[in-house]
This record gives sequence, structure tokens and C-alpha cells, in this order.
Amino acid sequence: MPVLFGHRYLALIVVVVLVVFWFFGPQGLQSDGGIHYPRVQGKAFSDVLNSTLGFQEIFVINLPERSDRRDAMTLAAALTRLDVKWIDGIDGKDVPERVLPGDSWDKKISKGNKGSWRAHMNALQRVVQDNLTSALILEDDADWDIRLKEQMQVFAQAARAFTQPAPRTRSTLADTEGRSELSVSQIPINLRSRLTPYGDSWDVLWLGHCGTEFPSASTIVAHKSKTPTMNRVPLLRVTIPSDVTVPDAKHLKAHPFALQDSLAKEYAPHTRVVHASDKTTCTQAYAVSQQGARKLLYQFGLKTLTAGWDLMLGDWCDGLYPRETGNRPVCVTVQPPLFSHHYGKGAASDITAPGGGFVNKDKEMTPYVRLSVRVNMERLVQGVGMGDLIDQWEDAE
Ligand SMILES: *[C@@H]1O[C@H](CO)[C@@H](O)[C@H](O)[C@H]1NC(C)=O
Ligand SMILES: *[C@@H]1O[C@H](CO)[C@@H](O)[C@H](O)[C@H]1NC(C)=O
Repeated sequence: MPVLFGHRYLALIVVVVLVVFWFFGPQGLQSDGGIHYPRVQGKAFSDVLNSTLGFQEIFVINLPERSDRRDAMTLAAALTRLDVKWIDGIDGKDVPERVLPGDSWDKKISKGNKGSWRAHMNALQRVVQDNLTSALILEDDADWDIRLKEQMQVFAQAARAFTQPAPRTRSTLADTEGRSELSVSQIPINLRSRLTPYGDSWDVLWLGHCGTEFPSASTIVAHKSKTPTMNRVPLLRVTIPSDVTVPDAKHLKAHPFALQDSLAKEYAPHTRVVHASDKTTCTQAYAVSQQGARKLLYQFGLKTLTAGWDLMLGDWCDGLYPRETGNRPVCVTVQPPLFSHHYGKGAASDITAPGGGFVNKDKEMTPYVRLSVRVNMERLVQGVGMGDLIDQWEDAE
């Protein structure tokens, strides 16, 4: 009997050690330099590596007649081991006047804006109907780095500063007065989230855009409401230093949709910054939580259609829609963005955005994305090694 007890005792110790190691073992960023991305160790983030990036679904909005884009997106997803589902794009001429929200009736909404609005509403409707905890919504010309899953793990850790309330205080690291800055390695990763690996209390994670601004103290003044503490935009910035997937500063400045100069001026080369969304434009890629999808479907499915979808989403994230509660939505973004429009021959973006004229007829390219899946598609299909892929935005010598 004592021997048996001893064995049991031993087994118990082994289990306890394993459990302790599982939760508190080696965690944090581990870099091996070069083109390989540092891996985040830690169970909390392992789901981010799955085929839906830790969201419950990935939806791609695509007009069925654009079969060229569907082919390209299908391949891009397969080559990065992602599982995508389609939301059919809508032609604006097929959207009848009577389904538009009331406040659009006296406005001239372009056909293009109507079609895009309806397609995005259908995506949100699907998230609500299927009770998804979260979904990533992509436009069909979106492109990303082949190291996306690892990038998203680090992003998830950074985002938690904004999205994961501590159990007792119910406040996040971002709920502090004034501007503060943290490196991603300072974000505690043992904060448990229940709903998504990106934290539990967020509305939108804006991962692909044409530009965004850092919120500033003046943003707060402009948005002061009856309940200023609830409506405050967090000024926290979480930096991801020495990120090998961030292009050299000179490449960031070369784009017409230039990121704020301050990114290049204030930060060391290869720094990515995660912060609250402010004046973000274009919707190549954004994730919504269940609560975010419900709020957005209510606001824009039922009440408001005044402009292009990306501009309305930007205004919503900026807290411009007066709401009884005074709760500013939690929208987190990242610059440089992790997704971007792919420009080039065939199956490419035909976006016309402010500051347009960006389409380069001669050269296929994707801004901000170094080891682009689309630019490297032929090589990836042929199965070449990482070292032989095209780095679009190589560092200066
Ligand atoms: C990926 O992880 C998320 C979060 O745990 C989960 O909801 C989703 O179903 C997973 N996807 C797959 C394909 O297992
Ligand atoms: C929706 O999902 C949540 C958890 O994500 C669950 O608590 C809730 O019961 C679900 N609602 C329905 C109607 O299934």
C-alpha cells in the first residue's frame, strides 16, 4: 500500500510540474534573427496559429463574377494554411432604395458605396446570426506576409493591453490618463481571456488600412461628452521593436497613403506600433467581435448610411456616433498594417482612394508587406525555400 501511495504521489507531482510549466514555462518573444519571425511562446496564443488565425471564421468579400480574384485569394489562403469562407459582393444597382437606412434618403449615395455597404452588412449579419465569437473580414484584394500567423501572435499579445480587462479592477493597461508607451514584452501574457486570443472586450481590430493616426490629447477634447472617462481614447502605444517584417523607414515614406511621418521619426527602424484607432481609412482587413458586430449592424444596418463603409467605420471607431451610453468602442489598429491592398496585373486592387493614382501598371506590389504572398505566389506554388522568396522592401545597405 505505501508503495502504491508513493507512485500516486509521484504521479501527482509530475502532473503538477507539467501544469505549472504549461502555464508559467518559457514564454515571451524568442528571436532567431534574419527572415524568421520571433515566436511567442505561451498557450494563450497558440490558437492564433490555427487556420482561422484564432478568430472563429475568416470571411472574404468577393463579387462572384470576379473569379480571377477568387482564384488568387483561394491560392493565397491555401499557401499560408488559412481557411476562408466567401461573402458574395453586391452590385450597388441591386440594392433597392427602400432597404437603405432612413438617414440616407436625402443623400446621394453612389452605387459603389451602396454595394460595398451591403456586402459588409451581410458579413456582419452572418457573424451575428451564427453567434460567432469573432470573425476576420477581408476584401478580396488583400495581401499579407507569409509570416502572418507569427505576426498575429505578437499582435495578439500587444492588443491585450487594450482589450483584456484585469479580473479585479476590470480596467485594461490602456485605461490610464495621458500618453504612455510599453514594449510588447512588458504586456503580461498570463492574463486569461475567455472569448478570443485577442482579449475579451474589443469591438474592432483594424489590421489592414490605408493610413491611421496616433490618437492625441486633442482627440480626447474633441470627443468629450457627458461621461468623459467612458469616452476617453487611450493614448497608450505598444511597440513591437526589431520586427523583421517591418519595411525600412524609407519604404514607408514612399507611399502616397504615407503613414504618419512620426512613425519614422519617433521610432527606431523596424518598429511596429499597436494603438487605439484614430482616423483610420480603408477596410482591406478588420476583425469584429460578436459585440462589435452587433453594435455595427445596429448602427449601419438600421440607422446610418452617409458615406463609404470605411469612412463610416472610421467615424464609428473615433466615437463620432453619439450614443446614450457614452461608451467609445474599442478599436485597435497597428502601423504599419499587417494586411494591405495588392496592386498589379490581374486579380489586383482597383481601389480609388483619396491620394489615388497609386496603381503602378508596370510593377506588381503590395505596400508595407515584405514577403508578400501575392508577389511570391509563383515561387510559393513551386515550393521554393524561404531564402529564395522576394523581399519587396529590402533594407538599405
Ligand atoms: C481557431 O481558434 C479559435 C479561437 O479559439 C476558434 O474559435 C476557431 O474555431 C479555431 N479555428 C479552427 C479552424 O479550429
Ligand atoms: C452565443 O455564444 C455565447 C458564447 O460565445 C453563448 O454564451 C451564448 O449562449 C450563445 N447564444 C446562443 C443563442 O447560442
